Amino acid sequence: MSDHLDPEELLRIAVEAASEAGRLLASWRGDERPEVVQTKSSPTDVVTEMDRKSEALITSRIRARRPADAVLGEEGGQTSGGPVGHESPDGRAHVRWVVDPLDGTVNYLYGLHDWAVSIAAEVDGSVVAGVVEVPRRGETFTAVAGHGAWLRRGKATLALHCSAGVPLGQALVGTGFGYDAGRRQVQGEVVAALLPQVRDIRRGGSAAVDLCSVAAGRLDAFYERGLNYWDFAAGGLIAREAGATVGGLAGKAESTSLTVAAGPGLYQQLEAFLGRLNPERDAPRSQEREA
Ligand code: IPD
Ligand code: CA
Ligand code: CA
Repeated sequence: MSDHLDPEELLRIAVEAASEAGRLLASWRGDERPEVVQTKSSPTDVVTEMDRKSEALITSRIRARRPADAVLGEEGGQTSGGPVGHESPDGRAHVRWVVDPLDGTVNYLYGLHDWAVSIAAEVDGSVVAGVVEVPRRGETFTAVAGHGAWLRRGKATLALHCSAGVPLGQALVGTGFGYDAGRRQVQGEVVAALLPQVRDIRRGGSAAVDLCSVAAGRLDAFYERGLNYWDFAAGGLIAREAGATVGGLAGKAESTSLTVAAGPGLYQQLEAFLGRLNPERDAPRSQEREA
C-alpha cells in the first residue's frame, strides 16, 4: 500500500459522500413512486432515476477529492479517474471505490425503510474502509480494516460486535433472493431446507444492511447467492471487523457464487449445512424449463 494512503481519510471521504447521497435519496417526497428508468437482469430488477442521481453525486464527490482513483459503480460500471496524482509508477490507480448508490431499490420503491448507500474503498485490491448509510434509520455503519466496526446514530457511536456462541438451531438467519427465476427456484429449495433447522429466517431486502445487521448482532448469520461486489464490499468489511467470519463455501472468499457471514462457530455450522445443499447451482431459466 502506498505510504500516503490513509484508510481513515478514505473512510471520511466515503462517509461524507454516503451521507449526502442518503439525504438526496431520503429527500424524495413525490406522491408517486420514483420513476423506473431501466430494468436489468429481469423485469423486477429495476433502476430508478434516484439510483442514477445518487451514483452521479457519489462519483462527483469522490472525483473532487481524489481525481485519479477508479470508481466501480453499480449503474455506471468502472470508470478511471484523470491523469493527476495518486497513481502508482505503472500508471494504475491504487485506489478503487466500490459503490452501490442504492442497495434495496425495491424497498425504496415501496416506501420500506431498509435501503442503504454502500461505499467501499479498495487499496491494491483489498477493501480497507467501508460505510453503509441507512438514512431512514438514521444509522451509519463504518469500518476500517484492522480497526473495528462502528455504528453512529445521532450523537452516539457504538463499537459493533457480532453475536457469539449461537448454535445453528438458535440462529436468526438473514438471506436474500436474486432477480432471476431459475436462481430463485434453487434459493427457495435451500431456504425451505434451512428453515426447520434454525430459529427463523429474515429477508430484509438490502444485502448491505443485512451484513451490518450481522455486525450489530441483529442477525446471527446471513447468506446469499448471486450478490454483486458492490452489494457486499463495504458490509462484508463491517461484519468482519465486528468479529464475524465472512466467506464462501470450503474456505473460498465471499463472492457472487456465495456470501456467508456469521460469528465464529455458527459460520462453520451454517457453511457445512449449506455445503450439503449445493446452493451455488441454478435451475434452468423458467422459459428453458417450459421449452
Ligand atoms: C439487491 C439487494 C437485495 C439482494 C439482491 C440485491 P439492489 O440489491 O441487496 O437484498 O437480495 O440480491 O441485488 O438491486 O437493491 O441494489
Ligand atoms: Ca445492491
Ligand atoms: Ca443498487
